[in-house]
Amino acid sequence: MRVEVGADLASFRRAARGLLVRGVPPDQVLFAEERMEQGSLLAAEPVPDTAPLPALAVPLAFLELAEHVACHRSPERWGLLYRVLWRLTHGERKLLEVESDEDVYRLRSLEKAIRRDTHKMKAFVRFRRVEREGQEHFIAWHQPDHLIVPRVAPFFARRFPAMRWSILTPDASVHWDLERLTFGEGVPRSRAPEGDALEELWSTYYASTFNPARLNVRAMRAEMPKKHWGTLPEARLIPELVKRAPTRTASMVAPRVEASEASRFLPERRDLTALAEAARGCQACPLHARATRTVFGEGPAQARVMLVGEQPGDQEDREGRPFVGPAGQLLDEVLERVGLPRQALYVTNAVKHFGWTGEEKQRLHAKPGRREVLACKAWLEAEVAAVHPRMIVCLGATAAQAFLGPGFRLNLSRGQVFETPWAKAWMATYHPSALLRMPDEHARATARRHFEEDLRKVAAM
Ligand code: URA
Repeated sequence: MRVEVGADLASFRRAARGLLVRGVPPDQVLFAEERMEQGSLLAAEPVPDTAPLPALAVPLAFLELAEHVACHRSPERWGLLYRVLWRLTHGERKLLEVESDEDVYRLRSLEKAIRRDTHKMKAFVRFRRVEREGQEHFIAWHQPDHLIVPRVAPFFARRFPAMRWSILTPDASVHWDLERLTFGEGVPRSRAPEGDALEELWSTYYASTFNPARLNVRAMRAEMPKKHWGTLPEARLIPELVKRAPTRTASMVAPRVEASEASRFLPERRDLTALAEAARGCQACPLHARATRTVFGEGPAQARVMLVGEQPGDQEDREGRPFVGPAGQLLDEVLERVGLPRQALYVTNAVKHFGWTGEEKQRLHAKPGRREVLACKAWLEAEVAAVHPRMIVCLGATAAQAFLGPGFRLNLSRGQVFETPWAKAWMATYHPSALLRMPDEHARATARRHFEEDLRKVAAM
């Protein structure tokens, strides 16, 4: 008997139920994934969903296994599933425990392939930002080995609930509009968006986390199969990184030129109180000489979100607290609007001393350079280690570059959420001072809207 099924588990379940009800043994069935043909038994005599199953219930473990195996591309899967189902319901209740059984072994290997493919999709999908009718949309193109899109899509909806995104694959596409997942047809690679900003971020991030001392090309390739290299911008860096590895390894074992000067001042105990106390005496860069005091971060040690600004301003320097001047007022206003209570956040700066030029009467903010940012980085990292926030939000490029290096571009990656070594979720948005400084009213209003949207996304997460 030839039985037509769609490429989904629901369709197989309907067909299998009908076959079991009729007592059709597996060796008399040939499953085919095609359209219903005139004359096929099931098409002629559909069995309603409510038809009773034979007395034996199907074990839950089988249903779980079937959910995985149904995503496999192999045409043998339906026949195999039906054979095992038949055996389970015809005297071999404990069949799934017999790992040496040929059918069970085969099912398990199909299941394993799906688990692996699912893991790769979660790890290797890279979104690119595009603008559509003034709205941001993130698009990724990916080529899974199997038909796993519906299975993996909810993971991305949970991970990126606050961005509109689409994942396109040759078999199916899935779209998230902030509320609902919808599925559509597959998309050929040629329609996927061409490289853009995100490439740069990923490249920077990957290069900065690449540890040549642990270089093992074979393992790296196994982890990142060649098939995915085309869609992974960082993969293009591999040959260059491999080539540079011997020199970089040497410089990593030699005294690190890039080490943060402030690490000399770190106390033995690393809780926030001890850190703040020790930071008062920090002289890691020349800024301490002209600043009134160190402005350390503040907020609960258990804060789930850490906000990182650039450096204290005039008023912060006088009061010894971050974000209490005009930028802080704007920040507070927006935090309130989006429902993020400031008291629940840990608020700090990349640089802990006010840097200024001009006269004492009228001190003018001087943006910190790479040297100051790097000198101060040990404090920032110690704060991250003490608070262990779920999400880090960088206000402005200086803060973002303190983490991801000078290659980071705010205009290219603002508002996107990334996983980083410092926090599972990491985002950069505008600095409130940048909004205050924008001379063009329209640009200012747009930036303010984006700033608010970004923080709303943080609140939603
Ligand atoms: N700007 C910052 O980056 N930090 C502050 O604390 C105040 C203004």
